[in-house]
Amino acid sequence: MLLLNKITKSFLQRGTVLKDLSLEVREGDMISVSGPSGSGKTTLLNIIGLLDRPDSGDLIFKGVSLLGFDSNRSATYRNRNIGFVFQDHLLLPYLTVKENILLPLLASDMKEDELGRKEGDAEELMRKTNIADLSGKYPFQISGGEAQRVALVRALINKPALLLADEPTGSLDRRNAENLGDLLVQLNRDYGITIILATHSISLARKMKVNYTLSEGKLAEGLLV
Ligand SMILES: Nc1ncnc2c1ncn2[C@@H]1O[C@H](COP(=O)(O)OP(=O)(O)O)[C@@H](O)[C@H]1O
Ligand SMILES: [Mg+2]
Repeated sequence: MLLLNKITKSFLQRGTVLKDLSLEVREGDMISVSGPSGSGKTTLLNIIGLLDRPDSGDLIFKGVSLLGFDSNRSATYRNRNIGFVFQDHLLLPYLTVKENILLPLLASDMKEDELGRKEGDAEELMRKTNIADLSGKYPFQISGGEAQRVALVRALINKPALLLADEPTGSLDRRNAENLGDLLVQLNRDYGITIILATHSISLARKMKVNYTLSEGKLAEGLLV
């Protein structure tokens, strides 16, 4: 589904972060990328999500090379194919849980019957992630663990081919972190969602099917414990 071929990325003050990094992602994969803070995990996810550009190398999604895309096509690729979850849930405080979840649909001009179907999808995902009761609440009225599950449902509402999760449990306590990890596994199993997850949590990484460690700009298979 996705092929990274010899991706190199440097920052002026930092030097080389990713060096000739290659990775093949198949549909339904569930991949963790571990590595210490500053090793380049976020940089890698940003490149896959076309939020940042590599200096060289190739990024091929379903046979199409992405790096030649202008900003319009990049945005379209992102909206159609990629869901993001970050360490902070980034919910909008003045919208309800349900409105936050449906927000990405506003970015795609959608007919009313399709919108109705999407609302049905949203309700199913909300049941699945145990937040159905929170529909009309505002972010300040729910817990951090609940807010992160709302962010996860929002990331999935456009049925992305690929979910990119950057330290998604980074601001959760242990119980909620465990719960979110299990939920990702369940969504991968039940819907076949492809997941690439950056984390320095070994226990979260272990839940994924394939583990990589980012070191010296490259991915090595396995977990460095
Ligand atoms: N926009 C940027 N400008 C300059 N340096 C950056 C930028 N983004 C990341 N870096 C540097 O690149 C390195 C890798 O960062 P990052 O990808 O955020 O690592 P990680 O997510 O593994 O903690 C760090 O040294 C960071 O300071
Ligand atoms: Mg990071």
